Amino acid sequence: MTPRSNIKAAVAAAFGAAVDTYDDKADVQREAAERLFGRLPGLALPTNPRILEIGCGTGFLSRMLADMNTEELVVSDISDAMLARCRQTLGAVASHARFLVMDGEEPSESAGSGFDLICSSMAFQWFNNMSQSLERLASLLAPGGHLVFATLAAESFHEWTQAHADLNMTSSVRSYPTADALARMLPKRGEGRVEEEHIVRHYPDGHDFLGHLKRIGAHLPESSHRPVAPGALRRVLRQFEGGISVTYHMAYGLWRRA
Ligand SMILES: C[S@@+](CC[C@H](N)C(=O)[O-])C[C@H]1O[C@@H](n2cnc3c(N)ncnc32)[C@H](O)[C@@H]1O
Repeated sequence: MTPRSNIKAAVAAAFGAAVDTYDDKADVQREAAERLFGRLPGLALPTNPRILEIGCGTGFLSRMLADMNTEELVVSDISDAMLARCRQTLGAVASHARFLVMDGEEPSESAGSGFDLICSSMAFQWFNNMSQSLERLASLLAPGGHLVFATLAAESFHEWTQAHADLNMTSSVRSYPTADALARMLPKRGEGRVEEEHIVRHYPDGHDFLGHLKRIGAHLPESSHRPVAPGALRRVLRQFEGGISVTYHMAYGLWRRA
């Protein structure tokens, strides 16, 4: 396996290991999926759209998409365990859907093309090359089709990052683009925008926050990051013994192919 496919396999494995705890802990992801879905009525979609979902997880967004009248619904995830759980929990609601294990950065031919809507909630932050991925996904749209996604932006987890910086350390938090940078990454052969929102959650302490990330499968550091030594991590955790507020800086991308 190449280093790149190793990273992808690790992402898939981390999410796969979280299938049983995800739904209980992923309250921000649930909220993001609802906010994203709430933006769909503002789009000029055909009556029975053809839809492709990337990174379905256990199916927060998939369930809402499956309730729509669709000509085609393809639900995909890089983790076969997540995809299987999604299929299982949706059951009869999604009996018309096609389920596909797929890396959304490198969509396979079997996904099809000519979609009216490609959407994704809280998966694109795991992409290695955002602009290239957006281009590839855009090419699977029909003319006039929409690419709509929720992802994390630059100020996410800044409280955790700052606590490391205060101790001259680098946190394992991935670096996310600003909303403006994300807007510049949208493909050129269409029009779009990026909307922002800050969702703040409070955790009893730093341990709880880290455990929370693990239970939703989102704890893998940036691949270039060297693990923080246990003693150093203890010093960071000490700063949050009274609790920690964490910002999820949401970016909602809304783009339409010309
Ligand atoms: C935080 S979960 C979000 C799941 C779901 N969309 C939700 O809103 O709850 C991220 C999901 O994206 C998937 N994922 C990560 N990288 C991916 C990639 N390159 N292609 C497709 N799915 C990916 C993970 O396996 C996981 O199921």
